[in-house]
Amino acid sequence: MPEKIKIAIVGIGNAASALIQGIEYYKDGSNDSGLLRPTLAGYHVSDIEIVAAVDISEKKVGKNVTEAIYENELDILVDFQNEVKIPVVMGNILDGVIVETEKSVNPANIASKDIAEYFKSTRAEIVLCLLPSGADNAVKFYANEAIKAKCAFINATPTKIATDKEFAKKFDDSGLPLIGDDLQDQFGATILHKMVIQQLLDRGIDIKESYALDVGGGAESLNTIYRAREIKREIKSMSVTGALNIDAPIVAGTSDWVEFLNNKRNSMLWIVGKGFLGADIIMDIKIQTEDGPNGGSVLADVIRATKVAINQGATGSIDEISAYGFKNPPRSMKNPAEANNNLANFILGINRRNKP
Ligand SMILES: NC(=O)c1ccc[n+]([C@@H]2O[C@H](COP(=O)([O-])OP(=O)(O)OC[C@H]3O[C@@H](n4cnc5c(N)ncnc54)[C@H](O)[C@@H]3O)[C@@H](O)[C@H]2O)c1
Repeated sequence: MPEKIKIAIVGIGNAASALIQGIEYYKDGSNDSGLLRPTLAGYHVSDIEIVAAVDISEKKVGKNVTEAIYENELDILVDFQNEVKIPVVMGNILDGVIVETEKSVNPANIASKDIAEYFKSTRAEIVLCLLPSGADNAVKFYANEAIKAKCAFINATPTKIATDKEFAKKFDDSGLPLIGDDLQDQFGATILHKMVIQQLLDRGIDIKESYALDVGGGAESLNTIYRAREIKREIKSMSVTGALNIDAPIVAGTSDWVEFLNNKRNSMLWIVGKGFLGADIIMDIKIQTEDGPNGGSVLADVIRATKVAINQGATGSIDEISAYGFKNPPRSMKNPAEANNNLANFILGINRRNKP
């Protein structure tokens, strides 16, 4: 039996809820439907153990994680046989909450724990950062606390950490892996957008213009609207144009928050191309996904791959993991197949070439 992968989660929101539910859902190893990789380097999803949890919401702090996740928009879809008896501790608020999101996150009136000491005391080896988009100061704070506690850091948020050369160097100098930025969904609008445009290009169609816009109901969409719209738009648009090397106007981003959608996201894709004789090919596609679960399988892979990085003694920015699981990695791969291949080689310990 492989040893457990001890993780600390910062931000017990919808993405954390999906991961925590996934550990329960896949625990006996008999059901692997919905997983990208049932095992990764011998690790199952159930080998992920939550040893520490941090949030600031008065509804979550003090509760065990399996209880705290009931406070999110994502429904609880599994029957927990055993409660995860890790109480959520109070974090450092910084810019985690803004006026517009206070109605969904009312901070607890409690002093923050010493976070680095807390991580150390729980023997966490990886800190998974699931803070809201735009909470740049808070994300940087927890990245520094992870370094102090000698933990690897996975940044699922769009804040630039893995793509920041100074942070990459700090993690490298401390002998720790760093992975990010901005988690890639298992199958969402960005992937669909890239796939469809790639197929059109392969069939000789000239892309003239395209957008992918989404509306969502989770706290994350609310945050995006008020303070991370620009960076999300930049990352999502770059993720499509950068990977496909086209110069047509491509716009991708979040356009509104619609509360009744809860954790669901509706994405609208519009693509205009020109075929033979300049004839139009026009597409209007809609896809609905659910944010938390859409990140769960990728998170499970990224956490297990980070454990492999720790076992291998890999330090600094681990580009093979970031390019596989994130929208804004320090070094992008040409396509998902190349990213998959590089991750597989990394897991096998070959082709490592990503020192900052
Ligand atoms: N499919 C996905 O879930 C997905 C995909 C791409 C990126 N992401 C990124 O993952 C992150 C988390 O997404 P989410 O949907 O779970 O968000 P969420 O808003 O549901 O959860 C964020 C949590 O962080 C807590 N928080 C806020 N400030 C804090 C602080 N200073 N210290 C500790 N906790 C604090 C909030 O109380 C909340 O519980 C976002 O940055 C999002 O962009 C998620």
